[in-house]
Amino acid sequence: MATYKLVATAAMGLESIVAREVKDLGYETTVENGKIFFEGDELAIVKANMWLRTADRVKIVMGEFNAYSFDQLFEGTKAIPWETLMAVDAAFPVSGKSVKSKLYSVPDCQSIVKKAIVERMKAAYKRMSFLEESGPTYKIEVAIRNDKVTLTVDTSGAGLHKRGYRTGQGEAPLKETMAAALIKLTNWRPDRPFHDPFCGSGTIPIEAALIGQNIAPGFNREFISEEWPIIPGSIWDKVREDAEAAANYDQPLEIYGTDVDHKMIEVAKENAIEAGLGDLIQFKQMQVKDFTADNDYGVIVGNPPYGERIGEEEEVEKMYRDMGQVFEQYPTWSKYIITSHPHFEDLYGKKATKKRKLFNGFIRTDYYQYFGQRPKRKND
Ligand SMILES: C[S@@+](CC[C@H](N)C(=O)[O-])C[C@H]1O[C@@H](n2cnc3c(N)ncnc32)[C@H](O)[C@@H]1O
Repeated sequence: MATYKLVATAAMGLESIVAREVKDLGYETTVENGKIFFEGDELAIVKANMWLRTADRVKIVMGEFNAYSFDQLFEGTKAIPWETLMAVDAAFPVSGKSVKSKLYSVPDCQSIVKKAIVERMKAAYKRMSFLEESGPTYKIEVAIRNDKVTLTVDTSGAGLHKRGYRTGQGEAPLKETMAAALIKLTNWRPDRPFHDPFCGSGTIPIEAALIGQNIAPGFNREFISEEWPIIPGSIWDKVREDAEAAANYDQPLEIYGTDVDHKMIEVAKENAIEAGLGDLIQFKQMQVKDFTADNDYGVIVGNPPYGERIGEEEEVEKMYRDMGQVFEQYPTWSKYIITSHPHFEDLYGKKATKKRKLFNGFIRTDYYQYFGQRPKRKND
């Protein structure tokens, strides 16, 4: 087993949640903007891909160095022992980005990195002719920021938000990783009721059910590094077996997903079935203003329309007012609403207990958190 410098990438604002998840897997972290660094072996790569619910990808950091000229970029890249990761038949496309750096031409940087790795691989594997690149794929990225070069290899393939269950979606679906983060930011526990009143394609209720039964988010998908010879198939098998054993399929859950659009309810049901959670989540067509609950101490997580589209503003504002009035009748429930609407609290009719800035894709949003009353203890 080798030790790798690894990085879990995260949407802006979610770094502390991703770092918590990495720590829970047993690794120490250091955090930078959008990046959570940790060290680990092949098992760490597999576990991180299988279990991180809120990270975008897991990458190996192959090298970091300063470069102010193409020569320095070439030599710095060639000095990295790529052959320890990649077999002679490896296919290795190179993508790139450059911010505030002397080397700003991304296509040139990509082709220089490619040439340097080819030269290194030919020397290491004693090849005179070209490399066929007919084997497993290693997606390499050259990222240059303030003249510092970072070379990474992606171990995930499709982004980690692709859990494999979303067959249908609505107009503004939430990323699965973001949905999981919204839930992790609440005080929900699996023994409390959970309700998403704007469920759309069901992402939030489905992620809640996965969390509630401790089902690994990567259980139903494949990862690009599964093809790599350096990670034995036995490690993947073991991590999948352990995930199966860790899942708590007997955990009862009370999870509801409702939406005004009956077509979305059908999509949500299909997605839940695809995720293997068909009978666990109760989906129903309903407007938010008709919300009711039989139980106390539940948690609402909602991603309503933000009112950004022309023509919908008035309707959305009325809906926010209705929502505030109906939710007010459930003081023991905690409510969490994500929106970019600048006057949400005024319309809802109450200041949030707490709010947190988050980016939903490129939209700057706030996550408004209204804490419910605590359960009474016997002596209170
Ligand atoms: C941003 S989308 C939610 C997307 C969802 N989180 C997903 O991942 O698919 C907002 C949803 O709110 C629903 N909606 C709009 N007005 C509503 C209302 N008054 N009551 C309930 N749902 C409403 C829309 O039909 C839409 O599906």
